Amino acid sequence: MLLLRRCRSLTRLQRHQAAPCFASRAVRLCSSSTEDQRSHQRANWSANWKRIVAGVLTGTGAVVTYGLLHQEVEQADAGLPTTERSSSLPVFSHDEVTKHRSLEDGVWVTYKGGVYDVTEFVPIHPGGNKILLAAGGALEPFWALYAVHDQEYVLEILSQYKVGELSAEDLKKQGEAKASDPYSSDPERHPVLRINSKKPFNAEPPPEILTESYITPHVLFFKRNHLPVPQVDPASYRLQVEGLPRGALTLSLKDLKTRFPKHTVTATMQCAGNRRSDMNQVKEVKGLNWGISAIGNAKWSGARLRDVLLAAGFGPDVAKWARHVHFEGLDKDVTGSAYGTSIPINKAMNEDGDVLLAYEMNGEDIPADHGFPVRVVVPGVVGARNVKWLGRIVVSAEESSSHWQQHDYKGFSPGTDWSKVDHASSPAIQELPVQSAITVPADGAQIDRSDETLTVKGYAWSGGGREVVRVDVSLDGGKTWQVAQLRSGDKGQPDEPSPPPGRSWAWKLWELTAPLPPDADELEIICKAVDNSYNVQPDTIPPIWNLRGLLNNAWHRVKVKVTKD
Ligand code: MTE
Repeated sequence: MLLLRRCRSLTRLQRHQAAPCFASRAVRLCSSSTEDQRSHQRANWSANWKRIVAGVLTGTGAVVTYGLLHQEVEQADAGLPTTERSSSLPVFSHDEVTKHRSLEDGVWVTYKGGVYDVTEFVPIHPGGNKILLAAGGALEPFWALYAVHDQEYVLEILSQYKVGELSAEDLKKQGEAKASDPYSSDPERHPVLRINSKKPFNAEPPPEILTESYITPHVLFFKRNHLPVPQVDPASYRLQVEGLPRGALTLSLKDLKTRFPKHTVTATMQCAGNRRSDMNQVKEVKGLNWGISAIGNAKWSGARLRDVLLAAGFGPDVAKWARHVHFEGLDKDVTGSAYGTSIPINKAMNEDGDVLLAYEMNGEDIPADHGFPVRVVVPGVVGARNVKWLGRIVVSAEESSSHWQQHDYKGFSPGTDWSKVDHASSPAIQELPVQSAITVPADGAQIDRSDETLTVKGYAWSGGGREVVRVDVSLDGGKTWQVAQLRSGDKGQPDEPSPPPGRSWAWKLWELTAPLPPDADELEIICKAVDNSYNVQPDTIPPIWNLRGLLNNAWHRVKVKVTKD
């Protein structure tokens, strides 16, 4: 096996003009390996990787496959120190690495300062297309996601593909850039995210990955930041609760965790700008060009806002005048204004409202991008009200006066343009309308006619705790419809228990497998969801177009080509 690797290394090294001493050693090693041995080794290699991936899927394979691969690498590697292989490898710049992002240009990745050409590995890795997502960049974040790779034998395998080292100059440049930038303390992000803006950081996952899991891993959860991510020390963190007759209540993170019962809610969060790019195509709108993935579903845990407000002195007297609860983040703009919004008091105090001061996301501390150490989670309500890095709560008779409550996140008529928009004339968006989108296949995909059937996948959700009860899918531009299968859990796993009526905070994933319509060489696939109030999605965008490109919940359409053999 190792001999095979070394033969391949030679090809790569010749391509990159590697040092002669390494090459001559590789030639010697190559000549001792027959073609038969090579194909046998290749078959073993491929079979073993299939077992690994099967293991990832079943959750048991890593232990079984460790023995197989480790043994193989050990046998082949006997007496050949790994340092010898990389001692004279060339140095590559970051720019050079980023040029290798496809099978045509070669698939290069970096890992801990090393540069690896894994082009030949892609076809024999059953998750090969996933490796392509890391092409031209670092492997570390992918291995953090697919933790089965983080084992010694996998590193040994990777080492066989090493073609060089990252330049020290590039590493230094990265360090300097970090030091002078207000965003320098922003956290690392997963490279698979599609970036809509770098500073502030706004990004969403590729749709086909989004619906692979019912609970969205935090690394893949869309990130919507208006400002740099504040660095908050959990030990000195204090949350102020104000506006109540007893005076301000100050809570530490420990107080929040120990003085109030911990409550867990599975809730979908969606940005009001989700699917803006489609609205932008009808007529230009202002805002980040979000695709269909500014939405995610997570398990949030924390103290109920209601419990905290009661502890702070909320009672019948306050209920007489209080109408809103304001939230302020610890992220501030250059004028010192914090990100802030408000929600109606009824949502905050309703026992069934499930509003949380969340300190955990998917069972772990909330990550920096998502509001560490505490964020508000307002299930069923637009993402904008789910304030991150929460610093202050105020009970008030008035709505928040902040920009994001008064001058943004509002809906308008398609006839309203920037010359006549009056923000005071529209209410702030709170509960969101029913929504669905197709994540697979992608718009423009090619479907092979010999497949005979087509599988369409996506998500569906409605705001205000309304449950999605049906998703209709059309493969012929809306002439005929079929009902998709809904699920509230991962494929092959039991669904999460049904929530009580009015508290359906989580999305449903859906899927339809249907025969390919005969003779068509192009399909327009459409989905539309129905919630338990029988709200439906509008069929086209123009009647709901608005100047900020918010609230796009029109039928989602993708066009695919059907190719003949
Ligand atoms: N909270 C603070 N403090 N600052 C922000 O920029 N963005 C809001 C909301 N809360 C924001 C915030 C918006 S517009 C959305 S859609 C959600 O956070 C996004 O949450 P996420 O980044 O965890 O996905």
